[in-house]
Order: sequence, then C-alpha cells, then structure tokens
Amino acid sequence: MTTENDSIAMEIDHLTKIYPDGEVLAVDDVSFTVKKGEVFSFLGPNGAGKSTTIQMAATALSITKGSVRIFGHDVEREREDVRKFIGICPQDLVFYEKLTVFENAMFFGKMYNIPTEQLKKSANDLIDRLGLSDKRKTQAEKLSGGMKRRLNLIIALVNDPDFLFLDEPTAGLDPQTRHLVWDFIKSLKKRGKTIFLTTHYMDEADALSDNVAIIDHGKIIALDSPFDLKQQYSSGDLVELKFEVSREVLEQKLIVLQQTEEYTESYLLEEEDILRISIHEGLQNIDKLIDKLAELDLKIIDMGIRSNSLENVFITLTGRSLRD
Ligand SMILES: Nc1ncnc2c1ncn2[C@@H]1O[C@H](COP(=O)(O)OP(=O)(O)OP(=O)(O)O)[C@@H](O)[C@H]1O
Ligand SMILES: [Mg+2]
Repeated sequence: MTTENDSIAMEIDHLTKIYPDGEVLAVDDVSFTVKKGEVFSFLGPNGAGKSTTIQMAATALSITKGSVRIFGHDVEREREDVRKFIGICPQDLVFYEKLTVFENAMFFGKMYNIPTEQLKKSANDLIDRLGLSDKRKTQAEKLSGGMKRRLNLIIALVNDPDFLFLDEPTAGLDPQTRHLVWDFIKSLKKRGKTIFLTTHYMDEADALSDNVAIIDHGKIIALDSPFDLKQQYSSGDLVELKFEVSREVLEQKLIVLQQTEEYTESYLLEEEDILRISIHEGLQNIDKLIDKLAELDLKIIDMGIRSNSLENVFITLTGRSLRD
C-alpha cells in the first residue's frame, strides 16, 4: 500500500535559524515538503536565507528551532544515516586546489566507502557528462571559474545520492554551460533523483522546477508550480517606460492613467522615474498603450518589455525586482 508519506522526500517543519553572531534571523519559521523525484527550487534574492536552509537540511549547520526529515530520517538525530543518501553542492567551492579533477572526485568518493572500481567509473562518467573530459588530469587550481563550479557538482554526486542539494549550481556559468548543467539536472531527475536547488535566476527556476518556493527575508512568500505561480501572481507582460518629463508631472499623469481600467495597477518605481505597467497579451496590446500615453502627452524615451515570468511574480509579491 502506498501512503502519502511514501511520496515525501523531505519534510521541513517550522525551521528557524538565528545566527548567534548579531542575532540574525536568517530563516523564519519555514515549513514545506519536497516530493520524491521532483525538482524543488528556492528562488530568492541575496540574503533571503536559501543557503542557510540548505545547510541545515544537509546536516552542515545546527538548527535553532524546528526539524528536517529526509526519507523519514531526522537530520539532527540520525545525522550519519542521512549523510549516506544525500549529496550537497555548496555555494562556496569545496575541493583541493592541488589535486586534479579526477583525484578530487576520487578523494571525496572514498569517504563513502565505495569500491574503487565503481568509484572510478562514477567519477569518469560525471567528468564526461559535465564536459570536463579534457581537464581530467588538470589541477583544480588551474581550472576556470565555471569549470571549478562543475567540479564542485561532480564531487557532490560521486556517491550517487538519492537526494541532492544544489546551492546556486549555475552561478557564474556562461549561457552554454548553464544549459549543459540544466540538461544534467534534468537527466538526474529522469533517473529518479530528488533535487532541491537554490537560484536567483527566475528562468532557471522556471525551466527546471516542479515546484518553486519564493523566499524573501527568511520566509516563504509563495509556493507552487511555476505555471500556477504565474497564473496567480502575474497579471501579464510587464512594460517599463521612461519619459521625458519630471517625476512630479509623471505622478500626476499616473493618477489619470490609473483611472483607465486596464492600467489600474501601473506604478512608478521608488528610486527611478520608470513607470511599470502590466498588460495582458503585452505585445499585441502595446499600440493601445502607446496611444493612451500619447493622449496624456507623454513622450517615451526608453521602453522594455518583460514577458510573463517568475520575475513578475516576485515583483507582484514584494514590490521589488529580484535584481535590486
Ligand atoms: N555565519 C553567519 N553568521 C551570521 N549571519 C549570517 C551567517 N551566514 C549568513 N548570515 C546572514 O543570514 C542571512 C541569510 O543568508 P543566506 O546565506 O542564507 O542567504 P542566501 O539566500 O543564500 O543569499 P545568496 O543569494 O547571497 O547566497 C543574511 O542576512 C546573512 O547575512
Ligand atoms: Mg546563498
């Protein structure tokens, strides 16, 4: 018989972290579950509490309050058991600079008592799949930044864990390598692995995740599939406009604009003279908007359109852009 518990990979319950240093409340009473075989993402800006959550869940940091269970095991009380089936790719790079790519993979793999032949095969296979075949015998210190990040990933995976924590796995990678890592993450999911990743790239969360938790100031402010998040919190494409008028004039025109039913949710950005307007079917309806602005005697000097994305969801929820 299959019960609901069988389908849960990780259960986080009222998880809280207060760093004693300065009494920073980094993770604030967070609860959620990750299902077996899914890619679950934490999307949030710098300092949101993503790494702190990952480190607590992956047994690398003490928990202030609350609990984490992975495949039914409590990460604090059953730390050693949990470590056997998780892999963690930390945000900070962890390997030996003087060892080669292959030697690093072998060194970390040996900590798991994997038979040498099996370990060699696993290490070589990962090196190939992450595009580092011609750097197999290169010392880690001589790799480029993006290659080092991939080595970090290889090390996290060498014990073939069933549950993987990936903390910003594509930070600093060029677009081509990012896609290679995305494909790799998708292939892991196909093999039945459960993946918890953090990112501040909304396209990454969108492309890879079954579910996304948007985290800000240590709290989850929304959790759903990317599709449902966009349905719920984004009212269409977002148009950003700059005009040749003073802020005072713009503020007055905004009031008039907001009286038009379609544009009630337009607003001016706090620090800049940029007007943001979300419109349904943005590109098709742009001419109507431009006509309206001309009617108000507003001359556009710059314009950008962001298609309906998780970025817009974040803006709707927080009033800020993820990049701010
Ligand atoms: N060792 C520490 N001691 C004190 N405060 C810390 C420590 N590590 C992190 N913090 C604080 O906790 C908060 C959350 O940090 P965390 O590293 O979890 O954020 P993050 O979401 O991973 O951010 P980023 O996207 O920059 O990696 C921040 O305010 C940070 O300054
Ligand atoms: Mg982090």
